[in-house]
Amino acid sequence: MAIQNFVAYNPVRLHFGEGVVQTLGETIKQYGKHVLLLYGKGSVKKYGYYDEVTGILKNAGLQITEFGGIQPNPLVDDVRRAIALGKEKKVDVILALGGGSVIDSAKIVSVGLVHDIDPWQFMLWQAFPEQSVPLVTVLTLAATGTEMNAAAVLQNTETGKKVGFVHPELFPKDSFLDPAYTVTVPKDYTAYGIADLIAHALEAFFGKGEPSVIDRITVDIIKDAMEQAPLLLNDLKNTAWRANIMLDATLALNGLTNYGRSSGDWGVHALGHELSLLYGMPHGATLSIVYPAWLKLQAGRIPKRIQKLGDLLFGLTDIETVIQKLEVFFKSIDCPVRLADAGIDESKKEEILHQMNKNQDSGMVYLLNDADRKQIVEYM
Ligand code: NZQ
Ligand code: ZN
Repeated sequence: MAIQNFVAYNPVRLHFGEGVVQTLGETIKQYGKHVLLLYGKGSVKKYGYYDEVTGILKNAGLQITEFGGIQPNPLVDDVRRAIALGKEKKVDVILALGGGSVIDSAKIVSVGLVHDIDPWQFMLWQAFPEQSVPLVTVLTLAATGTEMNAAAVLQNTETGKKVGFVHPELFPKDSFLDPAYTVTVPKDYTAYGIADLIAHALEAFFGKGEPSVIDRITVDIIKDAMEQAPLLLNDLKNTAWRANIMLDATLALNGLTNYGRSSGDWGVHALGHELSLLYGMPHGATLSIVYPAWLKLQAGRIPKRIQKLGDLLFGLTDIETVIQKLEVFFKSIDCPVRLADAGIDESKKEEILHQMNKNQDSGMVYLLNDADRKQIVEYM
């Protein structure tokens, strides 16, 4: 598969490094005076990020309306409530302070505020935004890449779906990435973030198109994350390791790894979302279980591609060993590689398969049928 035609576009202004948040007030002022501040369940208050950020906003003379309590694997219901609040208070700009869950919610709030459309309709690709309220983010967890992309993932517990929406109106205007804002991320979530960024690079690598330079860059992101991981996990407060992982995570899903490809695959993510939906599993922990299983299914179908991954990543091409080495890495950072490692009993496999088949979870390049999903669940 040669290079595919592609369009590259990324308008996000990235502010990266220690202390960058100090200029947040000036940045937000360009977009308006009244800020809707979104955050999660409480870590930002516990660790002082909320105080620092609100202090900066107040010093800049900005008015703040806040909406806290967004949960990991965020809910469309919270997004609906935040939209209602923002409409009532007539906010001009949104500031998302948190990880992927807060930022993804804020993206849908930013389009929901200027349309009279239920936000779930965007998530189902049944409605498309024409405009958005400017969104600024301060990232507190390195993982998803949402800070520099146009995607948002929400879940709806009523309809039993966790789905993603991608649209240029969802790009943040500015994203502030200070590694010092991530030093309090606990060890488990730090590792899940690393698994997530590696999975993003893999989704690109197994996408449509094989641009040689981008294949190398994509695998180098994985390599770097694998090298940084033990350093960081043994020294969680170290901002140098935090900064490297933060940059890896942004690069894994800001468009770069898709240059020369017409799409990524994303089948593993679709399957993983079901585990979050059913058992509330952290996103990254679902991927360290599903990726090895997916690779085992694909071993006989796309051997050359997996061998290329193995060659670039580990300098070896025996497929079984490549998959095994990936599992060994995930285990070394305490990410689950089997359902049992995540405390999910064998007996749940039927329920998992049923959910995956119900939503017909598949990849964009490597289509999956019921029998494929059954095989994958057996490997998990
Ligand atoms: O809620 P709080 O109290 O803030 O705690 C959070 C949460 O419990 C905590 N946390 C965040 N920053 C912290 C911190 N704890 C201490 N110190 C800090 N600095 O970490 C927990 C997880 O937060 P969450 O935002 O859920 O994690 P993540 O950034 O991994 O986001 C996961 C969500 O992003 C979606 C996932 O599906 C999932 O819903 N994704 C979004 C993508 C995108 N928009 O491009 C792509 C990804 O593939 C992914 O699907
Ligand atoms: Zn992900």
